[in-house]
Amino acid sequence: MKVGAVLLEKQHVKNYTFDNRYVCAPFDIAKATDDGLVTEELLFIYGQRKGPSLIIVEQAAIAPAGQYREKLIFVDRDECIEGLSKLAAVIHNNNQVAVLQINHAGSAADVDLTGVEAVAPSAVRHPVLKRAMPREMTIEEISEVREAFVEAALRAKKAGYDGIEIHNCHGFLLTQFLSPLTNLRTDEYGGSLENRSRLLMEITKAIRKAIGNDLLLLVRLGLDDLMAGGLTLEEGCLVAKELEKADIDILDISTGLVPPLELPGPAMLRDMLGAVKRYVKIPVIGAGELSDIKIAAAMVEKGEVDFIALARPILNQPNFVEELLKEIRSGVV
Ligand SMILES: Cc1cc2nc3c(=O)[nH]c(=O)nc-3n(C[C@H](O)[C@H](O)[C@H](O)COP(=O)(O)O)c2cc1C
Repeated sequence: MKVGAVLLEKQHVKNYTFDNRYVCAPFDIAKATDDGLVTEELLFIYGQRKGPSLIIVEQAAIAPAGQYREKLIFVDRDECIEGLSKLAAVIHNNNQVAVLQINHAGSAADVDLTGVEAVAPSAVRHPVLKRAMPREMTIEEISEVREAFVEAALRAKKAGYDGIEIHNCHGFLLTQFLSPLTNLRTDEYGGSLENRSRLLMEITKAIRKAIGNDLLLLVRLGLDDLMAGGLTLEEGCLVAKELEKADIDILDISTGLVPPLELPGPAMLRDMLGAVKRYVKIPVIGAGELSDIKIAAAMVEKGEVDFIALARPILNQPNFVEELLKEIRSGVV
């Protein structure tokens, strides 16, 4: 058998069948309208992304204050449902599972765009992006954000998505709660790992309750901040285990405060993925320069990861995975 064949193996999660092990990773391309509605251009681009069994639609903002950059998709109000539903239909038309990633940027918000003060667990400037100094969130504001995540998930359900992915990596709000570098709170949302992960766990459980058991629930978890004094890999793995207990279906892995793009590849998160697989039994998605079929197949074969997610290759060539699959099927690799 050719080495790439393992990437063609189907995977079943709940009532969903994934036709192969490739995932289109969420990556924002700033093609929505200025107020966050899905455009024809977005529909066209997603329609070209043939091949992956699962498309995770780029981060959609759950609240105006949580907008990270211009022309992001929004899911903060019912007006967004129509366009999001067209996008889900485009993905389904290509026989792919459609998941929407939902996010709040916290101190990574672009205040010039949002026009409001950024909020974060503590008044700590974003350690990587160094954007405007945020204001510490009150307990009431934390509840409002939790509610906004749930409302966003319900809108995604209404729009016909098969699942929701909570964005908890790359330095955005929930990452800021998890990290001791950005969370200096002394109440029940700060301090111990249990407290720092409290908001993520509350949101996860509340979304599961709201959407029911049939829909897929994913968390993209930054396992390691890759910064001295930040969230450690071991802590990240413990949070992953708690998320599994909270009934998520698939764990999507990336980095915490520091985005993965600067890390040396290929397979730059390979050690991290191998580590988390020792903590959870649910399927794990991994990304980070995984376009080499032999490396990807070896990782799946060895049980280091279950799904291979690609971003930049698909950004540069939307049907990249379709071509990879042809190569694998033709037995070249
Ligand atoms: C332009 C761009 C936008 C991105 N936006 C997101 C995003 O919205 N959500 C997310 O979780 N990751 C985002 N990422 C990270 C990718 O999903 C992925 O983890 C990273 O690019 C590594 O995979 P790759 O080597 O296949 O590109 C983005 C990456 C790029 C290049």
